[in-house]
Amino acid sequence: MSNDSPQKAILVVFAVALVCSVVVSVAAISLRPYQLAHQIFNRAQHIVKLADLMPTNAEALSKKDLMDIFLQLDARVIDIDAGKFAKNLNPVTFDQRKAAADPGRSVTIPAEHDVARLGRRSRFANVYLVWDGGQLKRIILPIHGQGMWSTIYGYIALQADLNTIAGVTFYEQGETPGLGTQIQLPDWQAKWQGRQLWDENGELRFRIATGRVAAESAAARYEVDALSGATVTASGITSLVHYWFGEYGFQPFLTYLREMPPSRADN
Ligand SMILES: Cc1cc2nc3c(=O)[nH]c(=O)nc-3n(C[C@H](O)[C@H](O)[C@H](O)COP(=O)(O)O)c2cc1C
Repeated sequence: MSNDSPQKAILVVFAVALVCSVVVSVAAISLRPYQLAHQIFNRAQHIVKLADLMPTNAEALSKKDLMDIFLQLDARVIDIDAGKFAKNLNPVTFDQRKAAADPGRSVTIPAEHDVARLGRRSRFANVYLVWDGGQLKRIILPIHGQGMWSTIYGYIALQADLNTIAGVTFYEQGETPGLGTQIQLPDWQAKWQGRQLWDENGELRFRIATGRVAAESAAARYEVDALSGATVTASGITSLVHYWFGEYGFQPFLTYLREMPPSRADN
């Protein structure tokens, strides 16, 4: 076959495409365990920080040390709709995100309640209880919802009153760098600390404001400063908080916890 023949050109293109696709597939398959390990480590890092268990020498901490801290947390699975602990599910192996894609372990969210624009959600959630001796210090709850371009995943830690925010973190998002990604700025996330979700009448008042929140204003108890150039993402965050702390999210579980305070031993 001559070098100028169209058949040879097609053959070469086909051979190059085949080799490239094999290389990409092998790389994707062989890197998958590393990606999964990284995802688990990344989430553990965010949770340990929210639990206020990150040592001061965090940079010197090995991955193993961090995972040891994470594994000491009181991890549990809850049944979101029943508002109770799901004692038959193992918190170490239960994966809420996988469950959300499993028809047997997830529910469709009716459009009129789907303010976080999720479509479906898992019936169960991984939560983490943080103890100070025998006293509940914090509870860490997973949250997710639609931003401008992507599904945003994070956690909120509540203080023992189950109303005051102890911290927030967003560990995965695909918003625009410099705009929507500002939700990951530590200084902005620090503004969530001490804000409350509900007022005395049980109304869910928390939200990201549309501007700066004056410290002396009545709103300062419930609202966090806006992010410049990122109103769409910020409004997605307000909506996802309203979904997850509303009656179709964690409200039944938090009501149950107030009535039946958990103890460290009943895990
Ligand atoms: C290419 C492009 C990407 C954008 N990405 C985001 C984003 O990730 N999050 C966001 O809230 N706004 C994003 N915006 C801006 C929104 O369209 C909107 O102008 C902005 O949220 C309004 O915020 P402001 O009220 O603070 O000006 C983007 C705009 C453009 C043109």
